[in-house]
Amino acid sequence: MQKDMFHQTTIINIFLVVSLAALLYSNSAADVIAKPGCLAKCGDLTVPYPFGIGLGTNCSVGPWFDINCNTTFNPPKAFIATESLEIIDISNGTLRIKNAVAAQCFSQTGNITRENPVAIDFTGTPYSFADSNKFTVVGCDDLAVIVGSSGRNFTSGCLSLCSESEDLIDGFCTGIGCCQTPIPKGLKDFSSALGSLNNHTEVWSFDRCGYAFLGDQDIFKFRTSDFSDENFQNRTIENVPIVIDWAIGNQSCSEAKKSADYACLENSICVDYDVLGGYRCNCSRGYEGNPYLSLGCTDIDECKNNPYPCAENGICNNSPGSFSCSCKHGYSGDGKKDGRGCTAENSQFPVIKFSIGFSTVFLSIIIAMTCLYFSIQRRKLSQIEQFINEVVILTQVKNLQLLDKIVCMLI
Ligand SMILES: *[C@@H]1O[C@H](CO)[C@@H](O)[C@H](O)[C@H]1NC(C)=O
Ligand SMILES: *[C@@H]1O[C@H](CO)[C@@H](O)[C@H](O)[C@H]1NC(C)=O
Ligand SMILES: *[C@@H]1O[C@H](CO)[C@@H](O)[C@H](O)[C@H]1NC(C)=O
Ligand SMILES: *[C@@H]1O[C@H](CO)[C@@H](O)[C@H](O)[C@H]1NC(C)=O
Ligand SMILES: *[C@@H]1O[C@H](CO)[C@@H](O)[C@H](O)[C@H]1NC(C)=O
Ligand SMILES: *[C@@H]1O[C@H](CO)[C@@H](O)[C@H](O)[C@H]1NC(C)=O
Ligand SMILES: *[C@@H]1O[C@H](CO)[C@@H](O)[C@H](O)[C@H]1NC(C)=O
Ligand SMILES: *[C@@H]1O[C@H](CO)[C@@H](O)[C@H](O)[C@H]1NC(C)=O
Ligand SMILES: *[C@@H]1O[C@H](CO)[C@@H](O)[C@H](O)[C@H]1NC(C)=O
Repeated sequence: MQKDMFHQTTIINIFLVVSLAALLYSNSAADVIAKPGCLAKCGDLTVPYPFGIGLGTNCSVGPWFDINCNTTFNPPKAFIATESLEIIDISNGTLRIKNAVAAQCFSQTGNITRENPVAIDFTGTPYSFADSNKFTVVGCDDLAVIVGSSGRNFTSGCLSLCSESEDLIDGFCTGIGCCQTPIPKGLKDFSSALGSLNNHTEVWSFDRCGYAFLGDQDIFKFRTSDFSDENFQNRTIENVPIVIDWAIGNQSCSEAKKSADYACLENSICVDYDVLGGYRCNCSRGYEGNPYLSLGCTDIDECKNNPYPCAENGICNNSPGSFSCSCKHGYSGDGKKDGRGCTAENSQFPVIKFSIGFSTVFLSIIIAMTCLYFSIQRRKLSQIEQFINEVVILTQVKNLQLLDKIVCMLI
């Protein structure tokens, strides 16, 4: 049982290695991810505080958040405190760990040839199974039960049958060769057990094993080829993680705020998290970063956002936790994209009159040229000579305003 592995009896001392590496690393971290002097990465895995690399190094918020980074593996592997549960990813407030898949296999005569049950126990730890996991059973003559507790006892399970491989539907885990059942939020421990109605004797030609596992419902997709896949168990262990929730302590936000070790620092808010108590921290609106570290939550410069947060011709002004919009000179409005925006001011400024006059003259010249062009087109070659004379006259006319009238009269 993996339960025992949580009762830490020995702490393997990798402290020296970690602190040496930490010294090399500490000055280079641009974003605040880990505590000063602590490693932020175990191989490719980023380990943000409140988690910390190294057992007993004080790099995490508490012993249960210590990550055992085992560098004997290449690349290094990260484990929750003990050797047993390997961490795949820590992000978006969840932890993803490598799966454990229960299996039961039969011989043609219905004797069990292989059997491995699975149990994971997080009782007394800050961890629980997220309700984005589903309990899944794959097989054509299988039933499985999951027993656990989330403060109250929980027992569920499902039955998966089929009589021939042609009945299976790719991508659908709906009771034909595959079934799924949800789990309650805050589930702290579970054990699963597989059973069979006919010991696979009826379906043995195409299905020799039944499988049961808890896993990320967004990742697992049932495939009809799963039955002929000798490697199904190992492939699922590798590819379908279990999503783990965590929370700080066992107090609610209002209780925790009074205590000395309240974990939410400046520009952050406290969020009650676990059904069994415990809280989490979020950066306040307009801030981003790590709410558990000093100077962790920094102002988001909304003015650099894409798309631009203000209206066209608006000026964006960033401020701590917020931003405001105003309008460029010559425009009025609130500058907001979803507000009145910025509109050009309707003034009697002489520049406008001047430019209207200027464009009238310019327009006249265009009309004149056009008239000239069409007159060339219409006249026969014999008239060209006369036309040239006219142009000579025209160029002597100083008043441009008259130009178009004269030309058009000539046509
Ligand atoms: C961790 O912190 C505790 C108390 O804060 C201290 O007694 C202990 O020596 C520290 N351990 C290390 C490895 O720094
Ligand atoms: C790392 O893994 C190896 C091989 O599994 C094991 O022998 C060793 O004890 C582990 N080291 C730590 C610090 O857990
Ligand atoms: C975390 O969230 C971001 C965006 O919200 C998403 O792109 C990313 O895939 C998520 N990571 C995981 C492991 O789900
Ligand atoms: C299968 O089980 C029967 C009794 O249940 C036993 O007599 C037989 O030896 C078993 N066969 C194998 C291959 O284990
Ligand atoms: C849950 O089940 C266990 C035995 O499996 C029992 O000892 C315990 O009292 C039960 N808890 C509740 C709350 O019913
Ligand atoms: C299935 O196997 C179990 C134990 O191996 C046995 O007790 C049971 O009778 C078998 N059932 C059938 C339908 O063969
Ligand atoms: C599955 O993985 C285990 C342990 O890593 C290994 O012993 C076994 O041979 C693998 N099975 C297959 C079918 O590759
Ligand atoms: C809460 O945690 C503290 C230590 O972290 C422990 O002493 C206490 O018993 C816990 N309370 C409950 C209700 O679990
Ligand atoms: C905390 O932040 C996450 C991600 O940024 C968000 O999804 C969640 O709604 C926030 N929770 C609260 C209570 O603000």
